[in-house]
Amino acid sequence: MIYLFTGSGNSLWCARTLAAELDERTESLVPYKDKPLTCDDELVGFVMPTYMGDIPWLVKSILLQARVSPSSYAFVVMTSSGGASGSSFDNMDRALVGAGSGLSAAFDLQMPGNCVVSTDEQNAERLAAAPDHVDAIARAVRRRERTYESKGKGPEPGFVEGSYFYGEHSLRRLTMMKGFSVTDACTGCGVCASVCPMGNIHVEGGRAVHGDECAACYACLHWCPEHATLLKLPMLRNRPQYHHPQVSLGDVIKSNDTQGA
Ligand SMILES: Cc1cc2nc3c(=O)[nH]c(=O)nc-3n(C[C@H](O)[C@H](O)[C@H](O)COP(=O)(O)O)c2cc1C
Ligand code: SF4
Ligand code: SF4
Repeated sequence: MIYLFTGSGNSLWCARTLAAELDERTESLVPYKDKPLTCDDELVGFVMPTYMGDIPWLVKSILLQARVSPSSYAFVVMTSSGGASGSSFDNMDRALVGAGSGLSAAFDLQMPGNCVVSTDEQNAERLAAAPDHVDAIARAVRRRERTYESKGKGPEPGFVEGSYFYGEHSLRRLTMMKGFSVTDACTGCGVCASVCPMGNIHVEGGRAVHGDECAACYACLHWCPEHATLLKLPMLRNRPQYHHPQVSLGDVIKSNDTQGA
């Protein structure tokens, strides 16, 4: 099984491509925010975006409730804009040690950025190179290559709260990376509510309204048909929309459905 989390589709595309090469199934992690994840498969993969050099806090909180078979070969692919995963591998290992397995292999995959802007040229290069990179990852996984040595240490108190997006001490407090404004271009179509993995958006008086339960996935920003959802942070306010060219709105709505498909 290959589990995934996505906002703008890079991780979904990667998980889908890997699954096809490995003859595996994919499943979104999103429904597991409300129920424990148990996986007895021999092969278990996780594909997700890098957020501030870490795994998304939503994934951390899901993995804290998960059970993964101790005899599994567990791997992670961190998609990112910079191509480096920071503390993601170690934190993924901690989460998986807590879940019972530990991490066997870890891979970076550089993709177009959905936060800090990458140029059209960079995006084109990364998208063109990605299939070969995923192919190499699939070969390593098929050989059950151990590219990561588990530290054997489970998550410590504050594991989720320590995530950048939670703020250092205040659980679920919005930080600057999660502040959005909705402009007058909003038509109240509800697309942003449909792609939100947290059920954090509703339409009121013909306009999208955001709550406080944000996973910082930026799906609402990138999939809005009117580009009416903008980050408040000045340096990112004018960033263009992006989504993976081979991933559709319907794919992401399905993946981020909190009830599961
Ligand atoms: C809130 C946020 C923080 C991010 N932080 C990083 C980062 O620290 N390093 C990096 O290389 N990319 C970072 N990115 C970019 C994403 O990791 C990258 O574009 C990823 O492939 C997006 O995956 P997705 O399309 O599956 O959502 C960040 C994106 C978001 C939304
Ligand atoms: S997707 Fe855009 S236009 Fe539609 S409700 Fe959300 S913000 Fe408004
Ligand atoms: S509000 Fe936007 S960024 Fe936050 S979880 Fe929902 S879709 Fe993602």
